Amino acid sequence: MDRIRIVGGKELNGTIPISGAKNAALPLMIASLLTADRLTLDNVPNLADVNMLVRILGNHGVDYTINGKRAGENGTTGRTIHLTAGEIVDTLAPYELVSKMRASFWVIAPLLARMGEAKVSLPGGCAIGTRPVDLLLMVLERLGASVDIDAGYVVTKAGSGGLKGAEIEFPKVTVGGTHTALMAASLAHGKSVVHNAAREPEIVDLADCLNKMGARIRGAGTSTIEIDGVAHLSGTRHAVLPDRIEAGTYACAVAMTGGDVMLEGVRPELFQSALDAIEKAGAVVTTTNEGVRIKRNGAGISPVDVTTAPFPGFPTDLQAQFMALMTRAKGQSKITETIFENRFMHVQELARLGSHIRLDGDCAIVEGVERLKGAPVMATDLRASVSLVIAALAAEGETMVNRVYHLDRGFENLERKLGACGAQIERVSAPG
Ligand code: UD1
Repeated sequence: MDRIRIVGGKELNGTIPISGAKNAALPLMIASLLTADRLTLDNVPNLADVNMLVRILGNHGVDYTINGKRAGENGTTGRTIHLTAGEIVDTLAPYELVSKMRASFWVIAPLLARMGEAKVSLPGGCAIGTRPVDLLLMVLERLGASVDIDAGYVVTKAGSGGLKGAEIEFPKVTVGGTHTALMAASLAHGKSVVHNAAREPEIVDLADCLNKMGARIRGAGTSTIEIDGVAHLSGTRHAVLPDRIEAGTYACAVAMTGGDVMLEGVRPELFQSALDAIEKAGAVVTTTNEGVRIKRNGAGISPVDVTTAPFPGFPTDLQAQFMALMTRAKGQSKITETIFENRFMHVQELARLGSHIRLDGDCAIVEGVERLKGAPVMATDLRASVSLVIAALAAEGETMVNRVYHLDRGFENLERKLGACGAQIERVSAPG
């Protein structure tokens, strides 16, 4: 298994090109199941999750080709993927695949909407706590489908007339539930209205792409989304939006090490709440035509309290990275996680680098320390792993991050991007 070796203490200076967003690319790829025509996606990041999803879609009958640049020396990629679901050959998504990648559960909506039936394995456990799918299934039922659980599988069928538009009210904001509603209701008969919809930029990106495919969706990006169902969708070409979580991660890294880095290609409104927190911590944030520039020199890091919340709040996917930054703040900060229970796996590992963090229910109380010291640590989930990288960049001496396959799921060319800005970081490949 590969590991990443970091020797801390270097400032970051330069430019980091921001990749296409994983959390947008995955639902966009799944939307290819909604049409027999070709869907072309540009700016798709070269990530383990994307490559796995391509194979999963292949099992359902999607033909695919991947063109464009491969991961380049300077970090950027932006691949183009062509996906054509001319004929759906299988409406079954087996446990072996869905358990490897949660997001693949979302195939249930387009398969049901287009084929009238689907059988998809329940995703099962996950390192960041229970992640139920009851609200996704509620969407399908509201649209008139039957939903049964049989031996670990969700079996769903539309009535003879197909899915029917409906009022869908979410009791809590769910990104997965909103993606499900957009995809299923686009091919339903009649009008659907989604109340308390997620407002994440990735929802807007999916709605934009579906509209280009012929869907009639209004209000994406607000809490109320209206969808007029259409009889069929066609192919289109769409570029995946920039990854706000990747950008926020590198912003935390620069605030941590000091230096001056341009996050190229990202827009501030995609991660404003994170930029606000990073600014309060002492970094200077400026926006240019190129992207967002993060700079910190001289002064130390100020403590800042954050609470995760659905967009436009502080993203749960940046909680671990911001906590890493706070480990070296001059004072105490409080980080509250409201989206997922048990999303504090990184705390134990950050402690190995010398941080002082106390957990109290859904809060982490971070006492900033003067110095962190390198140590062997273990990646636990995607965002937790990268928080260890951030801490290691500022720690004295060497840190070896084990189990980096978690990082490869969501960060494209991490070590090249950081290395190009002066970090001492390298991948150590396991022999054999
Ligand atoms: C969530 C995050 C998203 C992040 C992703 C990966 C939010 C609102 N969502 O999206 O930003 O990128 O994780 O880390 O920040 N829930 C149910 N029943 C369901 C579905 C969800 O109770 O059927 C609950 C979840 O347990 C959670 C909340 O709703 O507490 C939000 O979950 P949801 O947005 O659906 O999760 P993801 O789509 O994975």
